[in-house]
Amino acid sequence: MRPHITINAAMSADGKISTHKRIQVRISGDDDFIRVDTMRANADAVMVGIGTMLADNPSLTVKSGELRSKRKKRSGSGDPARIVVDSMARTPLDADIFKKGEGERIIAVCEKAPKGRIEALQHRGARILTAGDQQVDLAGLMSELKALGFDTLMVEGGATLNWSLISQGLVDEIYTYIGAMVLGGEDAPTLVDGTGFGDNTDAVGLELMSVERMDDGVLIQWHIVESV
Ligand SMILES: NC(=O)c1ccc[n+]([C@@H]2O[C@H](COP(=O)([O-])OP(=O)(O)OC[C@H]3O[C@@H](n4cnc5c(N)ncnc54)[C@H](OP(=O)(O)O)[C@@H]3O)[C@@H](O)[C@H]2O)c1
Repeated sequence: MRPHITINAAMSADGKISTHKRIQVRISGDDDFIRVDTMRANADAVMVGIGTMLADNPSLTVKSGELRSKRKKRSGSGDPARIVVDSMARTPLDADIFKKGEGERIIAVCEKAPKGRIEALQHRGARILTAGDQQVDLAGLMSELKALGFDTLMVEGGATLNWSLISQGLVDEIYTYIGAMVLGGEDAPTLVDGTGFGDNTDAVGLELMSVERMDDGVLIQWHIVESV
């Protein structure tokens, strides 16, 4: 058993989710910002990889006051639980997830994570979940999250985490906002990086659920299907 898992990302018309400098870029507009905020408010938990944490330092909080208070009435917290997939517990102690918002902060580490770093993060108020020897075992982590009561999980990147989740069959839905820009760059991250499949018979199949014109771009919703 695992939560219902949705990946959400904004990418350029050429499929890049950032530039080759791996800095945060604004790809979508105001309407998409509200959509993402609503999705966050409706999720039990939001997850990023440590690459995104170190590159963007996202707070992952719900920005709208109205959505925050509705969420708080419903579940006791204005923000979803915020989870970082971080094998070696490298999440900075002054990260915005600790400074902003409320609710649980969870750092998912592996057995090899230095004890001192774990203790420092716990001291900062984080809950530590350990899964896997060398890297975070995502399937194991998802089972644990479900057992803890997390039914819906929104994944907000990045490219490497997206690959692991999709290639391991751990994703149900993908929302991609495609912005009206070209970023280019062979070293710029795309929606899904990792090693990739060598053959299209291995490709993960998608079913197109909806296409919507939004801001200057387009929002696409896909469901994952078992095979192409
Ligand atoms: N446009 C958007 O919507 C959007 C959203 C998010 C991010 N981004 C961009 O994406 C870039 C970051 O992506 P990224 O690929 O470098 O990093 P990432 O996917 O955020 O994080 C990858 C890291 O997660 C850790 N990890 C632990 N267990 C893992 C597992 N089983 N599978 C995969 N990763 C695991 C690994 O580091 P350890 O081994 O140290 O744990 C790995 O290097 C940034 O440029 C950011 O701006 C864009």
